[in-house]
Amino acid sequence: MVSLAAGCGSSDDASSGDTLTLYSGQHEDFAKALASSFESATGTKVEVRAGKDSEMVGQIVEEGDRSKADLILTEEPGPMASLDKQGLLSPVAKDVLALPDQRFVPSTGNWLPVAARARVMFFNPTKIAEDKLPSSILDLTKPEWKGRFAYAPSGAFKSTTAYLINTIGKDKTLEWLKGIKANGVNEQKNGKVRDSVEAGQHEFGLSNHYYWYILAKEKGGEDKLTSRVHYLNNDDAGALMLASGVATLKSSKNQEKAAEFVKWMAAADGGQKVVASETPQIPMVAGVTSAYGLPALDSLTFPKFDQASLDNVDAANDLLKQAGIV
Ligand SMILES: [Fe+2]
Repeated sequence: MVSLAAGCGSSDDASSGDTLTLYSGQHEDFAKALASSFESATGTKVEVRAGKDSEMVGQIVEEGDRSKADLILTEEPGPMASLDKQGLLSPVAKDVLALPDQRFVPSTGNWLPVAARARVMFFNPTKIAEDKLPSSILDLTKPEWKGRFAYAPSGAFKSTTAYLINTIGKDKTLEWLKGIKANGVNEQKNGKVRDSVEAGQHEFGLSNHYYWYILAKEKGGEDKLTSRVHYLNNDDAGALMLASGVATLKSSKNQEKAAEFVKWMAAADGGQKVVASETPQIPMVAGVTSAYGLPALDSLTFPKFDQASLDNVDAANDLLKQAGIV
């Protein structure tokens, strides 16, 4: 065999490794901002395939070893935890796992929490005073709350359901879901919960904190909105803090570069800076402050739990169906 330009072999090999493919269930603008910022920082291009968490996770499972995905970024811990449970994720390096707020690092160590999302109540102060709001979402099934609040069967609502299965059991969770369906108004999407509360159609609604901050920014400031955000600030399921996460797929042919992306996501001057500036989700690394005027993680009280424990998303989905919510 004649060796052609032996010295150039390595650069040929590298050409296939210059692009990473990221399957993302996160808000698409945010995922794309991460991709372009990583490319400017490292020269490695990141191609984003965006959809819902459940779609992207479903695709990865279906594609198996042939999957194009090097990386997965999910909005919710549950879908990520379900991939992890199936053994499809590569471990995250210990020094990288040491960077984010340790309360969100999954016990498995196979994915990195990158942003926190608080479950909250949006309320309309012209309809209800903040101190009259329930201190537990478990109380919402009581007759006194009938017809007064909105909710949406979003990914985070599914996470809440998964969390309740783990803490109060399946039967009580199903009972609760049936009560929510009977008492609440299903507005289908978190954004609709926000808008309908803002418009005074409901006294309050269950949602994720950041939807309100997105609207406040669009309208030119928090004082331009009538509605407000209520953080339960306790150990109730209504105060859950859910981690969005990133991981390298075991099937990726590009383990090293993908791990580099994961590491960059934890860097204060890397992915965390993009979290702070491009989305009102809460940065995970100490010293990185959101541009959206969000409360810091340390200023809030929320339940302690292992984000990896929300791998029971299928069971949560089943209950939502049984209750007639989805
Ligand atoms: Fe969202």
